[in-house]
Amino acid sequence: MSNHDRKLRLGAFLQATGHHVSAWLHPDAQADAGHNLEHYKQVVQTAERGKFDMVFVADSPGGYADFTDEATFKQNAKAAHFEPITLWSALSQVTERIGFVATSTTTYEDPYTTARKFASLDWISGGRAGWNVVTTGADVSANFSKPAHLEHARRYDRAEEYIDVVKGLWDSYEDDAFVRDRDAGVYLDTDKFHLLAHEGEHFQVRGPLNIARSPQGYPVIVQAGASEPGRELAARTAEVIFTANLILADAQEFYADIKARLPRYGRRAEDLLVMPGIFPVLGGTEAEAATRYEALQSLVHPSIAWGILRRHYQGIDLSGYALDDIAPPLPNDTNGSKSRLKLVSDLIERDRPTLRQLYRQVSTARGHLTSVGTPEQIADVIQTWFEQGAADGFNIMPPILPTGLTDFVDQVVPILQRRGLFRAEYEGQTLRENLGLRRPENGLKSRARTAVSPEAIGAHA
Ligand SMILES: Cc1cc2nc3c(=O)[nH]c(=O)nc-3n(C[C@H](O)[C@H](O)[C@H](O)COP(=O)(O)O)c2cc1C
Repeated sequence: MSNHDRKLRLGAFLQATGHHVSAWLHPDAQADAGHNLEHYKQVVQTAERGKFDMVFVADSPGGYADFTDEATFKQNAKAAHFEPITLWSALSQVTERIGFVATSTTTYEDPYTTARKFASLDWISGGRAGWNVVTTGADVSANFSKPAHLEHARRYDRAEEYIDVVKGLWDSYEDDAFVRDRDAGVYLDTDKFHLLAHEGEHFQVRGPLNIARSPQGYPVIVQAGASEPGRELAARTAEVIFTANLILADAQEFYADIKARLPRYGRRAEDLLVMPGIFPVLGGTEAEAATRYEALQSLVHPSIAWGILRRHYQGIDLSGYALDDIAPPLPNDTNGSKSRLKLVSDLIERDRPTLRQLYRQVSTARGHLTSVGTPEQIADVIQTWFEQGAADGFNIMPPILPTGLTDFVDQVVPILQRRGLFRAEYEGQTLRENLGLRRPENGLKSRARTAVSPEAIGAHA
């Protein structure tokens, strides 16, 4: 693809009330957004009006609010919200073109159920499903009858095999296996049926999946880890990588590194799209944008500020520090997100912020790029990163919902369109088509059929 044809990709990264840590306190926010389907409907329809490639929600099966920290728990709007696949299944029915990326963990679920749910979402949405594969940083083992949270390297090891199993299950039937020929009495062409019969270290999965190969072949695979094993997993299996970067040079390093890994897996640069996040604070003038930014920051209660800092300084006692002290170094390692630890450590080393400056930086976008300015200025940042080898597109992270997205769609998208960077109309019907990604072949097609005895399968109603 020539650089001329290359189009910017846009995702709306949605957090119910907005990404700012105290968004729900703002009068423009929908305070009950996490449980308000009408709110999500409006937001997703706004993103589709803006011709976004996709909407995306993050998720953890239990881990986004620390209930042991009373002061922050009672202010945490992320404590409770809808399960992503359920939410997107409903919203796919009130939209036509936009893609739906749902987060699902490889650490706490099973490949069979994941394969089944995402194939269902792909059918229900008419080929607009994507799976954000996460290994889950937060320890939620206590919700899943497990003795402990798996160690980082082990989580990625399991994720590698997990994705292979899910893809194999999606290939249980060839695209045209279900002939439904009433005259011949043939519902299914059994020559087009394949058993996975996977025997691996983490999983033993026979198959078949109980759903036909979905419109996209495989829902689009998204990955969001950026440590060494995270990059490798993305290079081998993912089609979109969500990432967080604060400065252009780091984003360029990440982009070049990810693209350079692809040929080893027989893949081309355009087979994996790199999408960092951006948290845009818009204003008619620079001064107005700065005022809006300060208004948001003024909502952060001191207990929330200290809660943010304690989360980053796990295991380090901050009781002797004041907010205007220079931020001490972070811990050396974590079993959570290694890439995010590095990003914030680099920030501390580079900028020498006070603890106040540090929490203000991460209270907005948690390590993603914060951009405060006029619509033109924000479009300039997007264009620069897109044209200077740092991004194939962006995940837009509205500070407050619904207004943060509406403002971006009405004020920034038209500029990106005028500059010829972004589409004026959807190119295709499926998420894969709109992202310019190839539809995958069935990986089991060439494999001889595996014989399994009827006794091994059993009968049920
Ligand atoms: C944009 C973005 C979205 C993410 N969404 C989730 C999520 O929904 N759930 C989750 O458990 N982790 C999420 N993560 C974290 C990563 O998936 C990954 O688990 C984490 O970064 C640790 O891996 P690493 O050490 O390889 O970076 C997200 C990361 C990014 C950059």
